[in-house]
Amino acid sequence: MVYKTVVLFVVLLFNMSYVIFASDPDPVQDFCIANTEPASHSSQCKNSSLATVEDFVFSGIKVPGKFGPTGLSGVSVNSNVFPGLNTLGMSFVRADFKVGGVNVPHFHPRATETAFVLEGKIYSGFVDTNNRIFAKVIEKGEVMVFPRGLLHFQMNVGDTPATILGSFDSQNPGSQRIPAAIFGSGIKDKLLEKAFGLSSKEISKLKKKLGSH
Ligand SMILES: *[C@@H]1O[C@H](CO)[C@@H](O)[C@H](O)[C@H]1NC(C)=O
Repeated sequence: MVYKTVVLFVVLLFNMSYVIFASDPDPVQDFCIANTEPASHSSQCKNSSLATVEDFVFSGIKVPGKFGPTGLSGVSVNSNVFPGLNTLGMSFVRADFKVGGVNVPHFHPRATETAFVLEGKIYSGFVDTNNRIFAKVIEKGEVMVFPRGLLHFQMNVGDTPATILGSFDSQNPGSQRIPAAIFGSGIKDKLLEKAFGLSSKEISKLKKKLGSH
């Protein structure tokens, strides 16, 4: 009985280790293309002798994605959509801005980001934990770094569409957009009213307006 319990515990611990220790690991092999075959669930990596060059090429950001209500289209290319990135500790995003388009204040809990302007003029910045702002307009060819976990934002201030390529030092940086996190997550109205000093009517309006931003 004791033996069975111990075995069960070890098996459980082993299965859970993928979840608990799910940080970006140091690779112990050349690559580990994430296994997307449901049948071979037991192995994290696709059999490397079956790998082809196509496993290391991603063609999904030749054109902008779908634009949201703030005039932004962001296509995140993490290990979920590009299995070849798995265990390599990096990923990226293509973001396109309509004229005046905004990337609302957000942060990436697991990665520092460098944002390289491919096209256009973008007011770009972040806020540190002392609420000090670092922001300016950057142009085509310039790069800004947003330190890990800090709030940042961008707006196309030029008179043409703009594009950036964001790079992350995590294969799955995560992204938390402040308007949606606050007004679209189901936090009690009473709390939001007190937190922001607004009436219940004003909070309802913000929820309707910003819940998906
Ligand atoms: C990987 O694929 C090769 C070629 O099909 C095969 O010989 C080998 O047994 C496979 N390895 C594993 C661990 O499945």
